[in-house]
Amino acid sequence: MSKIDFTGRVAIITGAGAGLGRVHAIEFAKRGAKVVVNDLGGSRDGAGASASPADKVVEEIKALGGEAVANYDNVATMEGGENITKTAVDAYGKVDILVNNAGILRDKTFLKTEESDWDAVCQVHLKGAYCVTRPAFKVMKENGYGRIILTTSGAGIFGNFGQSNYSAAKSGVVGLANVLKLEGAKNNIKTNVLAPVAATRLTEDILPPPVFEKMKPEYVTPVVLYLCSEQCEDSGTIINAGLGYFSKSAMMTNNGVILPVADGAPQPEEIMSKWDEITNMESTKFYKEVNAMLGEFQSILG
Ligand code: NAI
Repeated sequence: MSKIDFTGRVAIITGAGAGLGRVHAIEFAKRGAKVVVNDLGGSRDGAGASASPADKVVEEIKALGGEAVANYDNVATMEGGENITKTAVDAYGKVDILVNNAGILRDKTFLKTEESDWDAVCQVHLKGAYCVTRPAFKVMKENGYGRIILTTSGAGIFGNFGQSNYSAAKSGVVGLANVLKLEGAKNNIKTNVLAPVAATRLTEDILPPPVFEKMKPEYVTPVVLYLCSEQCEDSGTIINAGLGYFSKSAMMTNNGVILPVADGAPQPEEIMSKWDEITNMESTKFYKEVNAMLGEFQSILG
């Protein structure tokens, strides 16, 4: 088994002052990476700012003999995103690895979700992924190497009551990964998606204490290290991870039904009568990109 080693690699971890990001940062550093520990240091709902969480993690890494530098920028702004990459380039000359991890929550049912709740959550998770990834992607492209993680959530993949803003944003990062996997391919930039489950301040009031104790962020981080390794060939893969469980999620398509159109468009009643067949998911297919799915239309055209 070849060892996963990040000696000589430079990694940016956003939201690394606490929770999952902190553990990611420490484990990358333990395996030789020089780490940019980004954290705005705000509250769970995104209010305020403090340098203390990022500084503490940098101290922890240095105490373990690793190399790290702190950055306190807000991932949700273009300026912040640019500055995070600049911190890596100024300190260590490049960016090889980017883990988009920073996150906030403003859980409310849909009708109670005010515009400010919608915007704040989408700005950190979705726009933040754009603001931070774009400048890093540019450096990775110039160097012909990159490993990117976008952090989604089961809420984004499957849905969760009371999290319309968060689920929409977390679904959005899957869409971003679907494109980055294609646009990064020729420059050896691989983008994968993590759907974690871990005990952090984001989940402390949701889970009962016995469950919470079994959900260490340490059980999630190993798959992030693998996905960011030179050995990993995957791109565009969504991995669920938590409690030692690892699995892949994917958007799947069934075999579908072809209705005759020689005499005009099908009637909605024909759709209704075939609904069970149209929606039957017993046999499903996975497409690596939309053109592969459009290939099905080619076969109909003949
Ligand atoms: P956490 O609250 O412990 O850590 C998030 C960190 O991000 C905090 O230190 C916070 O200061 C930082 N942050 C927030 N907004 C920021 C901004 N605008 N700029 C820079 N830093 C900012 O949360 P946790 O649980 O470690 O979450 C990490 C990621 O994993 C998040 O994206 C979250 O949505 C995702 N996630 C977590 C799950 C879990 O079970 N803990 C489940 C599914 C997804």
